[in-house]
Amino acid sequence: MAAGAGGEKRILCVGLVCLDVISVVDAYPAEDTDTRCLTQRWQRGGNASNSCTVLALLGAPCAFMGSLARGHAADFIVEDFRRRGVDVTHVTWQPHGDVPCACCVVSAASGSRTIVLHDTNLPDVTERDFARVDLAQYKWIHWEARNAAEQERMILRVERHNSALPPAQRIRTSVEVEKPRDELLPLLAHGDVVFISKDLAKHFGYNTAAEALRGLRSRVRPGATMICAWAEEGADALEPDGTLVHVDAFPPERLVDTLGAGDTFNAAVIFALSGGQSLRDALTFGCRIAGKKCGIHGYDGIV
Ligand code: ADP
Ligand code: FRU
Repeated sequence: MAAGAGGEKRILCVGLVCLDVISVVDAYPAEDTDTRCLTQRWQRGGNASNSCTVLALLGAPCAFMGSLARGHAADFIVEDFRRRGVDVTHVTWQPHGDVPCACCVVSAASGSRTIVLHDTNLPDVTERDFARVDLAQYKWIHWEARNAAEQERMILRVERHNSALPPAQRIRTSVEVEKPRDELLPLLAHGDVVFISKDLAKHFGYNTAAEALRGLRSRVRPGATMICAWAEEGADALEPDGTLVHVDAFPPERLVDTLGAGDTFNAAVIFALSGGQSLRDALTFGCRIAGKKCGIHGYDGIV
């Protein structure tokens, strides 16, 4: 759903869109072997892009903001966004660079996904691109951490916009820091909701979501909610007052495809929180929808 019927405010996700070339194999291949896969498909990928897919499937009017460059991959991607009803008005068409592409191997035996992304020379969207977004249309804006310095400035624009509004009309913001790269860490200090990945947590030496949330708490701003998903362990969150919330995973009957499980979780949590649900209910919904996703290939059938 691109535009909200009756002026319903939308959710915007800013980040990566790429082409995922997915090979489903019966078991993960050994290095330097020559094997056949069971099936192969192209799928629109990228965290922010996948979260838009899930938001659209959940029935939330949503828009994607990120970069593309003209060509076959972009044609496929735009057609897929449209099919899902995701608004692409804020895609920045870059005159130079290639659309990022990932080789993804999904093991049918375990549901594991192994991703090799070629994050190309395609420039990311900037503060200037973001200045064209009509903020009045949005109730929630989510950033997947990439070009952090520009993204910080985008968030500051939203904070300035919010400061002139009564609390009920403010745009809520969230940030996902997934990749353990030092230049992304300043983004932890922004956003009403901060999603921290298991990868980032492990990078800092934490072995559980709860440990990571407590350990990284000093890096988020006062008043922020922190969330950390941990695959089959479910997810934890830390309320602004320091209360820890844990929700167990909802394992599917058979794990078949965990590609995009985290993006699904984030989208479902944002959907629930933006609809006024409590943090516990939002985590539960996130784990339920993400668990369902792990039991199917792709996203059709998560709701
Ligand atoms: P990603 O690695 O894709 O970023 P995670 O592995 O942290 O994401 O998983 C996100 C959510 O997906 C988890 O909180 C959980 O609810 C669900 N999930 C992922 N893997 C499994 C699994 N093996 N069994 C059950 N649920 C899972
Ligand atoms: C899944 C995903 C894939 C993409 C990769 C990029 O979370 O967004 O769709 O290839 O991660 O890191």
